[in-house]
Amino acid sequence: MHLTLRSPDDFHLHLRDGAMLQAVLPETARHFARAIIMPNLVPPVVTGAQARAYRDRIMAALPAGMSFTPLMTLYLTEDTDPEDVALAHADGIATAVKLYPAGATTNSHSGVRSFVKIRPVLERMAEIGMPLCVHGEVTDHDIDIFDREAVFIDRVLHPIRKSLPDLRVVMEHVTTENAVDYVRDHHHNLAATITTHHLIINRNHILAGGIRPHYYCLPVAKRETHRVALVEAAVSGDRRFFLGTDSAPHTDANKLLPCGCAGIFSATNTLSCLAEVFEAADRLDRLEAFVSRNGAQFYRLPPNDGTVTLTKGAPVTYPGQIETGVGPVTVFDPGFPLHWHVSA
Ligand code: NCD
Ligand code: ZN
Repeated sequence: MHLTLRSPDDFHLHLRDGAMLQAVLPETARHFARAIIMPNLVPPVVTGAQARAYRDRIMAALPAGMSFTPLMTLYLTEDTDPEDVALAHADGIATAVKLYPAGATTNSHSGVRSFVKIRPVLERMAEIGMPLCVHGEVTDHDIDIFDREAVFIDRVLHPIRKSLPDLRVVMEHVTTENAVDYVRDHHHNLAATITTHHLIINRNHILAGGIRPHYYCLPVAKRETHRVALVEAAVSGDRRFFLGTDSAPHTDANKLLPCGCAGIFSATNTLSCLAEVFEAADRLDRLEAFVSRNGAQFYRLPPNDGTVTLTKGAPVTYPGQIETGVGPVTVFDPGFPLHWHVSA
């Protein structure tokens, strides 16, 4: 059985820098034509000039013979200059701006504490139609970690969207039925990315029968009913839902600690995993919309010219870990065999 799709895009990807970038970039570029590149480096990618330099480092790390277009984002801080953002957008250097509430996730300490302070940037972005990618979790210590996404929608996201209806917003890596419902019910300038792993794991995978750090990411996976809602959204064909893998490599040394890093690395086997999910839902015909069409449409990009072909066969073999110059990185284990082989 074969399935040929337009080359896919990953609308939420962490490539890191240096030796890690070198090792993980081919894992994505092998199958994906473009990706939205997260700016949470240390220090973060804040200005247009920093995004240009990071884009150059990504292109320099791309192995000869591979083609890939990084779509850069700017890390929104309380000091971000609206004019720098607008210029970077006009020059084609920055596709979107990324909002991290301060302290929400890996390398987010430079993120936003006061939403009043970023208002001028958001106003400028609304004027020029530049998308805002949002890490949708509140960071208040009194809010339970499993509720942080739902509370963010009520307290932060909805008020921002109401006061700036022209702002185009992508709710990143949604993990709850609440977020799916919110996106479904609010059509105006709103979309959401869904990761591969949140379509496959729930919180039991992390916590039942022993703690499994390689399934720990942020936002943390929720209960099964939420996972089911995410699958329904992904396979629905609804244009506002599309793939952002949030493939986020950390070395095993940094994952397997008393206080380990959040992030799941799924670039290596993401398309095979997704084909299994869509097949199990009897919706393989909607896979192309989710991975290759809906996101491009929201970002106002043309669909890619190339194709990838998925072929069903004997179980796919893939490495349990990939080697990087800074130590091994574990590849996402979906917990079931994969049968869809991808050829670009
Ligand atoms: C990401 C990372 O490691 O940069 N981690 C994660 O758990 N997803 C940051 C993020 O997207 O939240
Ligand atoms: Zn991420």
